[in-house]
Amino acid sequence: MNQRAFADGQPLTRARDWIANARHLFVLTGAGISAESGVPTFRDAQTGLWARYDPMQLATPEAFARDPGLVWRWYSHRRERVAQVEPNAAHFALAALQKHRRMTLVTQNVDGLHARAGSAGVIELHGNLFADRWQHGCGRCASQVVMPVAEGEPPQCKLCGARLRPAVVWFGESLPEADLRVAQKAAADADVCLVVGTSGMVYPAAALPSIAAEHGARVIIVNPERSDLDHDADIVLYRKAAECLPLLLANPFEAAAS
Ligand code: OAD
Repeated sequence: MNQRAFADGQPLTRARDWIANARHLFVLTGAGISAESGVPTFRDAQTGLWARYDPMQLATPEAFARDPGLVWRWYSHRRERVAQVEPNAAHFALAALQKHRRMTLVTQNVDGLHARAGSAGVIELHGNLFADRWQHGCGRCASQVVMPVAEGEPPQCKLCGARLRPAVVWFGESLPEADLRVAQKAAADADVCLVVGTSGMVYPAAALPSIAAEHGARVIIVNPERSDLDHDADIVLYRKAAECLPLLLANPFEAAAS
């Protein structure tokens, strides 16, 4: 970790000042920001989705080709669970900050909680759990041409047989190119980069903080545990997102004036 942040002042206060004075704040979030809403992370040793399920059986194009119903039902189940939770104080703090700060918000999460908290223009690098798309269809696939399928199976196009699939990025698939380019450009332009609740193990999203750092941005991480990105950070706040972000993103000047 870069030690310059600890030269003087408390880390939280210093990080808050950097954010309050940022010209362009770049934010990258991961599953940890939604943990306090009740959405499981992926790599937690006990409760993480990938500790309980095998991603190769559920989150790859090959898994969908092998057993589309299994994959469809697993995503339907996740969709139902996530529909029942609410954004937490961390999502709301970011949405509020966007009103008076230039910010690019990039998330690896597919849960849609940033948008539900009121954030606009969120870049969802790994897609959205609540959207579907046709698997390499004929171009005329649409809900009007769906053939009858057994319950729990994905809808199928009557014209070409293509199936509807969740519009999320699976292992082995590329990220949406235009979104990734916008995210990389924003990271390079930012002067402060805030990383919240990601293990930093999945690329290319995990490379965004180092792009910001290489272009001179100060990097702040919020995560109760160590992550693979700590070496890029000027400050690591080992705290939970919903408790930390409302403190971190409160504008000290506004707070003093009120
Ligand atoms: P991970 O499950 O890999 O990491 C979650 C991180 O959140 C860990 O570093 C935890 O320490 C941290 N964390 C847990 N609770 C927290 C809290 N209350 N506040 C802040 N941080 C907390 O999730 P991601 O890094 O998001 O990809 O995973 C990246 C990608 O891997 C996901 O988008 C998904 C997965 O495979 C796809 O599905 C394509």
